[in-house]
Amino acid sequence: MFFSLQTIALVASTGLLATQGASALAVEERSTSLCNQPNYGASGVPWKSNSTPGSFCSSKKPSNNRFWNQIPYADSYDKVKCSGSSRNRYNVCGSGNKRTNLPKKCNPPHKFPWGYKAPTTSSAAPAKTSAVASSAAAPAQSSAATSSASSAAGAVSSAAASSASSAAASDASSAAASPAVSSAAAVSADPSPVAASSAAASPSASAVIDPLSYPVCETTYQVQYQNYTRVAANGVWMGLTMGAATQDASYMTYTLSTSVDDCLAACDKIEGCVFVNTYYDVNEEENYLPKHTDGVLTCAMFSQCVSTDKNDNWGGQDDPNTIVNSNGYCKSSACGAPA
Ligand SMILES: *[C@@H]1O[C@H](CO)[C@@H](O)[C@H](O)[C@H]1NC(C)=O
Repeated sequence: MFFSLQTIALVASTGLLATQGASALAVEERSTSLCNQPNYGASGVPWKSNSTPGSFCSSKKPSNNRFWNQIPYADSYDKVKCSGSSRNRYNVCGSGNKRTNLPKKCNPPHKFPWGYKAPTTSSAAPAKTSAVASSAAAPAQSSAATSSASSAAGAVSSAAASSASSAAASDASSAAASPAVSSAAAVSADPSPVAASSAAASPSASAVIDPLSYPVCETTYQVQYQNYTRVAANGVWMGLTMGAATQDASYMTYTLSTSVDDCLAACDKIEGCVFVNTYYDVNEEENYLPKHTDGVLTCAMFSQCVSTDKNDNWGGQDDPNTIVNSNGYCKSSACGAPA
């Protein structure tokens, strides 16, 4: 025992062997890492029945069967490259993946601003009233009040809303006069005053709140949609309302997990990954396969935040499967991701 400690100390003090050992290990790591395999080890795309995931990114596999044994645990994906001299080339080694913009025509879930009261009748004009009330009651909340008011007036960018503080009223009125609207805030609000006021009066008042200002976040991702469903246009489930998952050219890889946060943590370690679509790919007849195992989420990763226009995998197309609880998560500065 004493002798071997001495030996280690000797090797460490020369530095030479230790350095050689470390660099050999780094080379080994790089050649076998998931980051050096096409689609990070995944075979094919998750919307095809013959595909297989690249990894399992939660801590414990739900089974030891031969199918599960073939799937590696997540290594650190592109983070293994961060020990090399070219680490500066990778965002993922520094501040992490940059956010992208939410897709157009996207109305993600959001919280209500402080002091906001959801309308109870369809005849009132509640958004405007509560904006006035909250700004009168709490001057410190004036940017929130501005955002409510201007969203109700036809949706302006959150940047415009947050830059307005003491000049809140004039900014809000100029925004109301201007037909120019910003990206995500414009979602369902029509810039015309008539449509805007009817939107404000609608019981689904969520449409008048700027989702970028009051996002629902999951780690550093903005929840873009939850439990997405649509009517299947073809396949076994044609005409039925089914869960639907993303199919898009910006696909990078897919992994399996037992939690959404594990999926998002995996995306954080894949250079350029900014969007994750999580869902259960249910096929009871083949639930011995990892991707169909009960309670196991598919985490499909993309290099762009993909609009629900592309959620056209509703199952039953090349496989009698169903897509359950399809959620979208977009890397967002609104949730603390690097801008
Ligand atoms: C998801 O949507 C389906 C269909 O509308 C519904 O039956 C189900 O209860 C929803 N699931 C959750 C978790 O909200």
